[in-house]
Amino acid sequence: MNSAEVLARQVMHRIDELSAISETPGILTRRYLTAEHRRANELVGHWMSGAGMDTWQDAAGNIIGRYDSAQGNAPALIIGSHLDTVVNAGKFDGMLGVLCGVACVQALFQTGRRLTYPIEVIGFADEEGVRFGTTYLGSRAVTGQLDPSLFEQTDAAGISFRQALIDFGLEADQIGQAARHADDVLAFLELHIEQGPVLEALGRPAGAVTAINGQTRLSVTITGEAGHAGTVPMGLRRDALAVAAEGVLAVERECDGNDDVVGTVGILRVTPGAINVIPGEVTFTVDIRGKDDVDRRNVVAEVSRAVREAAEQRNCFVQISVLHEAVSAPCAERMIKIIERAIATVGFEPCRMPSGAGHDAAAMAELCNVGMIFLRSERGISHNPAERTSEEDVTAGINIMMKVLDEMEGY
Ligand code: GLV
Ligand code: MN
Ligand code: MN
Repeated sequence: MNSAEVLARQVMHRIDELSAISETPGILTRRYLTAEHRRANELVGHWMSGAGMDTWQDAAGNIIGRYDSAQGNAPALIIGSHLDTVVNAGKFDGMLGVLCGVACVQALFQTGRRLTYPIEVIGFADEEGVRFGTTYLGSRAVTGQLDPSLFEQTDAAGISFRQALIDFGLEADQIGQAARHADDVLAFLELHIEQGPVLEALGRPAGAVTAINGQTRLSVTITGEAGHAGTVPMGLRRDALAVAAEGVLAVERECDGNDDVVGTVGILRVTPGAINVIPGEVTFTVDIRGKDDVDRRNVVAEVSRAVREAAEQRNCFVQISVLHEAVSAPCAERMIKIIERAIATVGFEPCRMPSGAGHDAAAMAELCNVGMIFLRSERGISHNPAERTSEEDVTAGINIMMKVLDEMEGY
């Protein structure tokens, strides 16, 4: 086995070990600022130390390892991805990028090699946004772009982001300390599973990402009136679920036929939720993504209009709040070219592709140039326990990342 193969095998074992840290036994769920988040940070911090890095947890709960350069205090290349997961997640989403970053530093450390720039590997604390509905909380703290109004956003149990930070041993007022200065950062590099079927269809292990699509997340609450399922005539009802159903179909209709915008309703809560009661209140989420920000915003406006119209027809009230909004984020052309050359040097045909999924790189693009390496996902499956990337492709990913690190010496 060559050294990349040995490191890839270690990454696969570590992924298994990390995936055992879950809020729910038997499935993988690890949300921001939970006991499991802390345990994951401790384990990854331990691996970072073993790879020769100085390690600390920042004011937002991100775990960071730093491997100094040969000379002076040059700007650092940040390599990162996330350690939080969706509910009943796959184990490669996010974690693979962090562990490949650690593996590459380990390869340098084992041969006593220092580069002309320092490397920092970051395991971001919140990319999925599962707990508070708004995403990239870890990476936005690093860019210094975290809006203080977010501290009052609450999770499903009514715990505010502010309180969750306190429970974790952190302080909302101190989160600014996680922010990095653009002058101290050379660039940001993220390796991630593709989470889609394109590379597999092309028969290639890796690709260079061109841009990360923009996204809007909404929370929509419809208020009607609960009533007896047997006695209230159909024409006199104020059925909140019927309005929500129109909303779900509006999302599908507005995105259908638009190749570049996709929309999803992932959560629907019906109150009171009984077989013989007309739904009095419904809350649902909407997630709309696209590469063109104008197209995406038009779809959001049309969906909002359709929901309001349906509510008016049924004499219901509607409240729409924007949980999260991120513009489409381009990768730096220079980084794309470096990644393409690295893929070719390792022996594969390079290709370029946009990312439909959100990534920490989208937030980090506010701070510095970003580049992303995608690795092939088996059957394109992600956000699903069946998510997988082969050990062979992880080996390719480590080799590609090492080549990128070489080239970044001239950046
Ligand atoms: C994160 O994976 C997202 O794209 O929602
Ligand atoms: Mn994800
Ligand atoms: Mn991810």
